[in-house]
Amino acid sequence: MHTIALQDGTPFPAFGLGTWLSEKDLVYRAVREAIALGYRHIDAAWIYFNEEEVGRGIREAIDAGDVEREELWVTTKLWNDMHDPADVPGALEASLRNLGLDYVDLYLVHWPVAHPKGVVRPDSGEQFLSLQERPLENTWEAMAALPSTQKTRHVGVSNFSAAKIDRIANAVGVAPVVNQVEVHPYNAQTDLVRAMKERGVVVTAYSPLGSSGRPDTMRREDETRLLDDPAVARIAENLECSPAQVLIAWAIARGTAVIPKSTNPERIAQNLAATKIDLSTEQVEQLEALDRGERYVTGEFWCPQGSPYTLESLWG
Ligand code: A2P
Repeated sequence: MHTIALQDGTPFPAFGLGTWLSEKDLVYRAVREAIALGYRHIDAAWIYFNEEEVGRGIREAIDAGDVEREELWVTTKLWNDMHDPADVPGALEASLRNLGLDYVDLYLVHWPVAHPKGVVRPDSGEQFLSLQERPLENTWEAMAALPSTQKTRHVGVSNFSAAKIDRIANAVGVAPVVNQVEVHPYNAQTDLVRAMKERGVVVTAYSPLGSSGRPDTMRREDETRLLDDPAVARIAENLECSPAQVLIAWAIARGTAVIPKSTNPERIAQNLAATKIDLSTEQVEQLEALDRGERYVTGEFWCPQGSPYTLESLWG
């Protein structure tokens, strides 16, 4: 399995299984199957409400002898209502209990957005805490203390801009090892990927297939499906592989880690096989040229009327 070296040299498997929107009754089997096939990186989050099933798949794979815990990379994420530094260690404990694991390999701040404790999904703009009220620097200081507890090996962030990363890293003196962000050819994030490289922060690309499993409530009417893009199809035809495989190979060719989600056994296997596909520099550039700054996960849900967050402040 191709790995990327983190700042401290730890090998980070460049390909993993995403579990956002994976249904509870399917995700256990998906994780179990994925590990049996050779997946060595599983991406979870408290807010996906399926950590227990993901953990069950991991533990059964270990018990069956398919993999040793040390060979597996498990990531999970701190939810927005647990940004108070006093709540951070307990939030990690809660995820470990859900997963049934002694430690995770990577714990991420899920969003640079805060809610009061217990407000899991604010239903009005007034229910948010601003970053002045709940500074990211303070949350990050609590995160940076976690590896010494042995409950997580590394800490990182998700959905952060370079400016926000600089702010927390300078304040605390510890940089995140990973920034997990939405990256695919329609949202190539070339500047952010470069900025992360300069800082030695590895990018993990989420929604690499264009997040086609999102509920209709999260879709725009004029949205194009990335998996149906003609340029992607052309390259797929040339390489005799599927469009999804082209997108996965593209992410790896650009030096990012990638975590396509699937609960379908055939697609789980197909996606793993994509790690063996090499794109030419020209093909990588052709896909990069599709960039139109189009996020599928827009972040609009953090910016209702009355919220202290705007799209500009969220992504800036
Ligand atoms: P399924 O779980 O039924 O396979 P993303 O990782 O960008 O969020 O995309 C996930 C979506 O893409 C899910 O709807 C998933 O459906 C689908 N998907 C995953 N792998 C493939 C594939 N190889 N070909 C087509 N669709 C895929």
